[in-house]
Order: sequence, then structure tokens, then C-alpha cells
Amino acid sequence: MQSNFWQDLDRPILVLAPMAGYTESPFRRMIREIEPSVVLVSELISAEALRRKNEKTMRLVAFHKSEKKYFCIQIFGSKAESFLESAKVIEELGADGIDLNLGCPSPKIVNSGNGSALLRDPLSTTKLIESLVKSTKLPVSVKMRLGFYDDSDLIEVTKNFASAGIASLAIHGRTTKQKFEGNANWEKIYEVKENLKIPVIGNGDITTAEEAKEKLQNLDGIMIGRATFRNPWIFKQCREAFNGEKISEIPSLKEQLKFLSRQAKLSVEFKGEKWAMMEIRKHLAHFVRSIPGAAEYRDKLIKVSTLAEMEGVFKEIPIDKN
Ligand SMILES: Cc1cc2nc3c(=O)[nH]c(=O)nc-3n(C[C@H](O)[C@H](O)[C@H](O)COP(=O)(O)O)c2cc1C
Repeated sequence: MQSNFWQDLDRPILVLAPMAGYTESPFRRMIREIEPSVVLVSELISAEALRRKNEKTMRLVAFHKSEKKYFCIQIFGSKAESFLESAKVIEELGADGIDLNLGCPSPKIVNSGNGSALLRDPLSTTKLIESLVKSTKLPVSVKMRLGFYDDSDLIEVTKNFASAGIASLAIHGRTTKQKFEGNANWEKIYEVKENLKIPVIGNGDITTAEEAKEKLQNLDGIMIGRATFRNPWIFKQCREAFNGEKISEIPSLKEQLKFLSRQAKLSVEFKGEKWAMMEIRKHLAHFVRSIPGAAEYRDKLIKVSTLAEMEGVFKEIPIDKN
């Protein structure tokens, strides 16, 4: 019997968007600590590499037990065999769900027929989804764009995906061709929901809790990506907004720096200091942009190579001003 946690989640559903190179386990854990109801998703993982239990890939999919309930592993690929075999690995790993990437526009992924390239042949993709759904007891969700070139067949395609048995559908309101240009088109996502019974989650350009509330409309939930870099508290604020409560302020600079310290410490435990500090630099770079007076520390922060060095720069930031 297939499990389907998506049906049981509190509404509106909140999902942290998968973002390669950013939404690693330590960041996801921090997001979960701030707002326990957020569904977490791994960054995109090659189904073929996962099926072969490639060493680097196994490190990429590693997650902490606190991420469970609910944590999905997102896979990309184009071969049924890879999907089916990688699904078995995901079951062994104990994740709660499988998320299928039909949205990645990166030329490296698309040119090898993966990611959003699968939207160019919706019939074969529907068959792929159907065989994956039948092969696993885990719920299979899809994350897609509005279409590859345009959104003309979106309604028909998403109806077919739903008939193939997916448990939920997240849509980034842009086409592949658009990459990240223009604004996300949420009207199209609302239209999809009018035609589907499964949970539909909207994604694209949300920067505040107020916007999330405004954009929700008839949808079951919202997914947020880039805005979490500068404001990891956004999901807590969204939950407050959806509950009709007063939206809490972003914590003080002192608290924000504490957040970053903890994220860095979790990262060091997770992958060792050298790699952890290299990877935390991009989070630091995003973060300082939102901190008045901290921009001048950016150059130092994007070069830190030890935890102690990072803490040293934090001490230089005048926290009392904020
Ligand atoms: C750096 C970066 C990496 C991303 N990696 C993935 C990925 O691995 N899988 C995926 O489905 N989408 C990926 N995306 C797309 C996001 O999940 C999301 O759809 C997009 O950023 C729009 O949402 P936002 O406006 O809230 O950021 C990525 C986006 C960014 C900015």
C-alpha cells in the first residue's frame, strides 16, 4: 500500500524549494528548527548515480533524522531503469518521499535529456512516472515548470501526471526558456489546481509572508527558495500570516549571526571544516547583504576558511547598531 503524507499535512503546505549547492542537510535542519511544519527536499540528485550508490552522491543525499517527517529526495534522469532502481535506494535510506525533477533548465541537465527536457515529451514522461509510482511504496511528487517552450499544454500534461499517480505537484511559474527572467505566472498555477484533486503547490518569486498569503489563492501550499537565503525565518512568518496571527519580526542581528554560527557548526560536523567553510561562504554572502552595516564585512566573510575565522569576523560586526 502506497503511503501519502501529502494528504495529511496541515494546510497550507510549506515547502523549502530544492536548491543545488544551498539546501544541504545543515541548512534544511535550521529551516526545520525555525518552522517545524516545513517539508524538506534534497537538491537534485542523479538517479543513475544514486542507483549505482556513487560515493559522492551518497554523501549528497545524506540527511539527519530530524529532517524526517517529511523529507523527500529529488531525482533527475530520463531512464525508467534508473528511476526504479534509485527509488529502491531512496526507500533503503528511509526518506519519506521521492520528488521528480521536471524543472531544471540548466543546459548541462537539459542537453542530456533530463530535468525540464522531459516536458518536451509529456507522453513518455507520463509513462515513466507511472512505472515509478507503481514500483515504490513511497509517494512520488513532481516539481516542474509551466512548460518547456510555452505553457500551452500545461493543463493536459498535469492531468496526465495526476492520473499516473503522483501524490503532489509543485509548479515554478516560469517556462524553461524563461530560465529566471520575468515574473512567475501564478495565474497558470491556479488554473492547474482548478483541474486537479491532488495537492498543488505554487512556487516562484515569493519574498515575504504577506506575498505568500496573497499568492496562495486556491492552492494547497507554497514553496519558497531564494528568499530563504536572506530570511530563513520566512516560513515561520508565513505560518503566522496564514493563521491570521501577527507576523513576527526577523530576529536581531545578534540572533542572525547565532543562526549562521550554528549552521556552520552543523556543516562542519556534516562534511568537515574545509568543505563546510567553502560552502558556507555563499550563504554568508547572501546574508550580509540583508544586514545593514555588514556589507563591509562581506569581503572577509567570503574568504573564511575556518570556523574560528568566521567567528572572528562576526565579532567585528557592530551588533548594537541593529
Ligand atoms: C541556486 C539554485 C539552485 C536550484 N536548484 C534546484 C534543484 O536542485 N532542483 C529544483 O527542482 N529546483 C532548483 N532550483 C529552483 C528552485 O527550486 C525554485 O523553483 C526557484 O528558485 C524559484 O523559486 P524562488 O523564486 O522562491 O527562488 C534552484 C534554484 C536556485 C536559485
